[in-house]
Amino acid sequence: MRQKKWEVICPLFLVVCLTFTLLQMKCFSGPSSTCSKKIKRHFRLPPIERFHMSSVEILEWDYQPEDEVEARLARNVVKYVLMVPHKLQPWLKSLGVAGLSLQDKQELQKLLQFLDASPNFDGAMGVLTQVRVKGFNSAKTLLEESSCTFLVKNWTMSIRNFGPIHPHEPSHREDDSSKATNWFQECNIAETAFVLRKSTFQSLRWRAECGSMSHLDFFKRSEGLLKIGKLSNCFFSPAITYFDHQILQSTGYYLDYSTLGQIHSILRIVRPDKIEWTKCTDDKQFCPEKPLTSRPNTLAAADGYPICCDVLMDEILSTLVDAMNKVGIEYRVVYGTLLGAVRSQSMVPYSDDVDLAIHKADNDQYEKFQFVQRILGSRYFVAWKANPPVTRVFAHYAPTVAVNTQHFFKGADSFESDALFSSKILKEMEKLLPVKNVAVEQRYVDVYPSPEEWFENFTEVTINNRRYHTVGNADKMLKMWYGDYMKIRPEVHSQNTLAT
Ligand SMILES: *[C@@H]1O[C@H](CO)[C@@H](O)[C@H](O)[C@H]1NC(C)=O
Ligand SMILES: *[C@@H]1O[C@H](CO)[C@@H](O)[C@H](O)[C@H]1NC(C)=O
Repeated sequence: MRQKKWEVICPLFLVVCLTFTLLQMKCFSGPSSTCSKKIKRHFRLPPIERFHMSSVEILEWDYQPEDEVEARLARNVVKYVLMVPHKLQPWLKSLGVAGLSLQDKQELQKLLQFLDASPNFDGAMGVLTQVRVKGFNSAKTLLEESSCTFLVKNWTMSIRNFGPIHPHEPSHREDDSSKATNWFQECNIAETAFVLRKSTFQSLRWRAECGSMSHLDFFKRSEGLLKIGKLSNCFFSPAITYFDHQILQSTGYYLDYSTLGQIHSILRIVRPDKIEWTKCTDDKQFCPEKPLTSRPNTLAAADGYPICCDVLMDEILSTLVDAMNKVGIEYRVVYGTLLGAVRSQSMVPYSDDVDLAIHKADNDQYEKFQFVQRILGSRYFVAWKANPPVTRVFAHYAPTVAVNTQHFFKGADSFESDALFSSKILKEMEKLLPVKNVAVEQRYVDVYPSPEEWFENFTEVTINNRRYHTVGNADKMLKMWYGDYMKIRPEVHSQNTLAT
């Protein structure tokens, strides 16, 4: 009797084992790992626990204390907050993390498990690409795709991607870390979605007025002391990680780097692939009123020097004129922009704006400006009749120079850089202080509906090697606007003297 029972159990056991082995083999035989994911879900990850999900509140990038959310946050069961770099969709606002997709819930759970098991970490985040790592080197490449470490020094925030990397395995396999397939990087900044302990969040809070730069502001205030684990096996869908930088700005709610600069006295943000500025410079010695091509290239922005405002204005003028030509909006270069063109074939570096005249009839055609916006795309914002009846065109991006900054540092894992902090550069930076409000710092084009006579004929002027249309009687008009206009004027901003 006893023996018979074993005769049944043994083959059954064998069949179960064999099936499992075959399944495993099938999973690891090819790169398409849909099957392995299934296995992982069934055999490695415990099912999503109600307890865990209710321990997290999800907060948007510009979260302002709201009674309802604060009351939810105050509950003892809430241990973590998930911070996302965008506005929350209404259903996520009301449902919280329960409204996330199944995949995102599973990814979130990995971060929670990591934090539950790692009491000395304040937060955790995932990676930007979903791949299975095959060892330390591929883990390193994956982890270093995104920001990890920052340091603030001499009005500069350097953001780099290095940080110590450790093996990380689900707890039941911790005995064998040499065969790790999951790794995590120790960071002190997160620029994508991340989970933070509630207590840490409450001690620092999220500052809504820092808008789309909330992440940078938040981590700046942490003074680099937070420990954030970046997990190689965690990947949120874009629904969690997208930035709504642009959506924000086109609603006219334009809070950008200058707020960060103003609050923290930060002028320069140095990343591995670019240098961004919270404001441009219009210093007369550094940015003389001369065509850009004739400027000494030793003062290049690629070396870490400030970016001259007239470089930005030149870019926005030529881009906008291209778009207006396509749409069929006739223009004339006028006021301070014409003054610079006639006087020096360049821009007046210390003017705040570029001035264009258009027909009154065109100015009233909203569709034409919508078309201009479509051509300009997301890099610019056309504020139609922003300052009625004047239309204003802004750039959406901070003054930026695309440059590989690795060579400034003493190695891949270093923050030491003398080149970026030479006394010459620091002297130029000092002149930019204090950083003021965005509205003042931002350069733009103003488009004025103008008298019909200005369009009866035209002449051409050159600005930075490019030809533009202006009024037929430029000399007469300039005399009328500015008097003895060929004289270089004392350093004053166009806001007070040149404009309109
Ligand atoms: C630059 O930073 C160093 C170290 O943080 C400091 O000693 C120095 O005074 C700073 N220089 C200026 C010009 O702020
Ligand atoms: C252009 O038109 C203006 C006024 O309409 C006139 O005073 C001026 O002489 C014209 N210029 C040329 C070059 O024809």
